[in-house]
Amino acid sequence: MKDVIEALEARREQARLGGGQTRIDSQHAKGKLTARERIHVLLDEGSFEEYDMFVEHRCSDFDMQNQKIPGDGVVTGQGTINGRLVYVFSKDFTVFGGSLSLAHASKIVKVQQMAARNGAPVIGLFDAGGARIQEGVDSLAGYADIFMENVLSSGVIPQISVIMGPCAGGDVYSPAMTDFIFMVKDTSYMYVTGPDVVKTVTNEEVTHETLGGASVHAKKSGVVDGAFENDIEALIQMRRLIDFLPASNREQPPVRPVHDVFDRQEMSLDTLIPPNPNTPYDMKELITKVVDEGDFFEISPQFGGNIICGFGRIEGSTVGVVANQPMTLAGVLDIDASRKAARFVRFCDCFNIPLVTFVDVPGFMPGTKQEYGGLIKHGAKLLFAYAEATVPKVTVITRKAYGGAYDVMSSKHLRGDVNYAWPTAEIAVMGAKGAVEIIFRKEAGDPEKLAARTKEYEQNFANPYVAAKKGYLDDIIMPHNTRRRISKALRTLKNKKLTNPWKKHDNIPL
Ligand code: HXC
Repeated sequence: MKDVIEALEARREQARLGGGQTRIDSQHAKGKLTARERIHVLLDEGSFEEYDMFVEHRCSDFDMQNQKIPGDGVVTGQGTINGRLVYVFSKDFTVFGGSLSLAHASKIVKVQQMAARNGAPVIGLFDAGGARIQEGVDSLAGYADIFMENVLSSGVIPQISVIMGPCAGGDVYSPAMTDFIFMVKDTSYMYVTGPDVVKTVTNEEVTHETLGGASVHAKKSGVVDGAFENDIEALIQMRRLIDFLPASNREQPPVRPVHDVFDRQEMSLDTLIPPNPNTPYDMKELITKVVDEGDFFEISPQFGGNIICGFGRIEGSTVGVVANQPMTLAGVLDIDASRKAARFVRFCDCFNIPLVTFVDVPGFMPGTKQEYGGLIKHGAKLLFAYAEATVPKVTVITRKAYGGAYDVMSSKHLRGDVNYAWPTAEIAVMGAKGAVEIIFRKEAGDPEKLAARTKEYEQNFANPYVAAKKGYLDDIIMPHNTRRRISKALRTLKNKKLTNPWKKHDNIPL
């Protein structure tokens, strides 16, 4: 008996070594943790249970029958994060560069299916060279099996990808279909085709970093939702993110004990809005002063900065916060901001997370760049997302809410449940200057008259009372009471029931 137990331990030891000590050392020399070390940091101490440690590939081309490493380049299993179940797969770059064989894919599919059945998130840690070239079409089949599970699990369980090394070719599309993607700065890159292929096809000279580094995807393409300094920081932040999320669409968001009182007043908010309506202020200050203990997990902070999206808590329960940011492009809605927020709103709606929206939006971004880029369709995504969302929706207009953007930003007309405005709100079809220039075009030659008209328009329309009189707002609230009013509104919405008409699925303007 002792012998067989020792034999098992020896086999496990062998599997844990992956591609061997030299390759592990090389991984460390690049500033990266190994697949198992990453899982160790991500999960609660001692909670990891590994599956399929002895799985080997079944390829016999290119002499592969003589090159078998138990586990075959991916470590899979389950464990807990702050006591809550999550499923994990972590690509092992020390084994055939983490490349994907059919056996390797089957291991991932197994945890994806377990996670969906048992209602728990899946976290994938990527560090791999794409398809296992020796396996050819079997590798492609393996990828498709994973993609299929990604799609079936979308909206059922949270799926999170962290790119911690190369992520190329077939490896990029599974993360692309998950809810959130994060990267590690300098050590990770993500692209469909690498610099060599780019050179051959387009004659462009690019490095891994300029083609698909964190600086590209977190700032320019918007493909990823955040970039972290190193492996450890990325994994610790994933623990923090998981704490905000329900384990599946069958659950309500987690509630955690909170010391922050629901009716905390923030007198400083009474002076947040500057006297000049064109002076920016930091919307993040409002968000962090409203959510529990100032704890806010921002999604895509470096992309589409004119809109802020992220998770906070009110009375211990997760909320999704969407807010225009006057500090960037005056908080205008453009293509990037619309896409970013639409996806976030849909995530929250999938997972029963109430939406709190803070509005200060001068409208949609004008110009050929935006129109040629399809602003109409992209702006419609956000409109669609808010309109179809059935989760509780609480909205506070702090300053501008002009034109179509007023409608879009969780207005009463899109089934906003509780809609408030600060007394500083200006709700109108457009800003006073633009409005007067159109209505009183005939008086364009008389600047004095025009100034008087502008003033008159501001007095009559640049306020919240016109909308409040019509019932489009439920109340005009004191800025210092914003947390109390949102908390109380969310309490009333705990048992909200609202369903959309039956359909196979909607046809959001993609
Ligand atoms: C098999 C691979 C591999 C692969 C790397 N390795 N990629 N083995 N299939 N795709 C092996 C290497 O042979 C090497 O083995 C070890 O992993 C480490 O690789 P290095 O090249 O030494 O590492 P590094 O210099 O860090 O470069 C990393 C890399 C590079 C940039 C990822 O390995 C690379 O370009 N790999 C190929 C990428 C690729 O073209 N993949 C196929 C994409 S096509 P030893 O034994 O020396 O340690 C694809 C289509 C699928 O994915 C589409 C599905 C929809």
